[in-house]
Amino acid sequence: MSTPVTKAVIPTAGLGTRFLPATKALPKEMLPVVDKPVIQYVVEEAVRAGLGDVLFVTGRNKNALENHFDRATELEQILHRKGDQTKLHKVEESSDLADVHYVRQGDPKGLGHAVLRSRAHVGDEPFAVLLGDDIIDERDHLLERMLEVQGARSTTVVALMEVPPSQAHLYGIATVEATDEEDVVRVLGLVEKPEPGSAPSNLAIVGRYVLRPEVYGVLERTEPGKGGEIQLTDALLEMARDESVGGVHGVVFRGRRYDTGDRLDYIKANVQLAVERDDIGPGLRSWLREFVPSLEE
Ligand code: UTP
Repeated sequence: MSTPVTKAVIPTAGLGTRFLPATKALPKEMLPVVDKPVIQYVVEEAVRAGLGDVLFVTGRNKNALENHFDRATELEQILHRKGDQTKLHKVEESSDLADVHYVRQGDPKGLGHAVLRSRAHVGDEPFAVLLGDDIIDERDHLLERMLEVQGARSTTVVALMEVPPSQAHLYGIATVEATDEEDVVRVLGLVEKPEPGSAPSNLAIVGRYVLRPEVYGVLERTEPGKGGEIQLTDALLEMARDESVGGVHGVVFRGRRYDTGDRLDYIKANVQLAVERDDIGPGLRSWLREFVPSLEE
């Protein structure tokens, strides 16, 4: 039996350049989807999976993020005085959500480097990494399944999704072999952002990982790779080849994922999650029914 996972690490220190100028003074993880910052969806997912200890790896402009998970005493007092319990609850829920901690990355030297910054907090136990700009729909239980596979196989687990060949150069791509479980594969090879047309498969790593602590030792000696950044994918390739650390497995996810770091996906996420809502959903649906046909005229 491997040690149970209790900690979630959420890197938020990227530059978010695809979202400039919105991200000039705000981390992209603080952009709202409908009316809630992306990062709150991610923390809620960690907490639902039983990971109430959350470490943010932060970069520049971290204040907005820290304030969001802190109390907002003045605003709370005003809403309390007004007797507006609904809005008061909305203000309080993010500060009551999890036990949050912060560590700075300093220079954004890559996702692998960001994860390495969590070492002192995590210590010698397996832990989850959730990218702060990827939302997994709450009706799909990806992280829970990954934790189950990690516990049962005492391995390192990545989330894999099929992507169209035209998108493969944007992801880490895995070569895999089947296991005795339909949604679990053994990872044999990994390549970060392959050149267009050269991807070894259509299985891409998406923003959820459950890592064994040996990853820290590997990351320490991982040289900068693609884009001059220390790549988590490169460290995972080394672990995939190392039986003594349990190799690397992938959970093949077929559910709903919203990549909010990409502008088009961000807009789609807003529409998809808004139409489901009881408050604004009906209004948005009826507007969309009128608007969409007008595009074809
Ligand atoms: P991305 O590559 O999507 O983020 O990193 P980015 O560099 O911020 O985005 P663009 O391309 O400039 O728009 C994936 C995740 O890893 C984090 C990011 O915050 C994001 O959640 N990250 C990336 C770090 O925390 N540190 C880094 O050095 C790089």
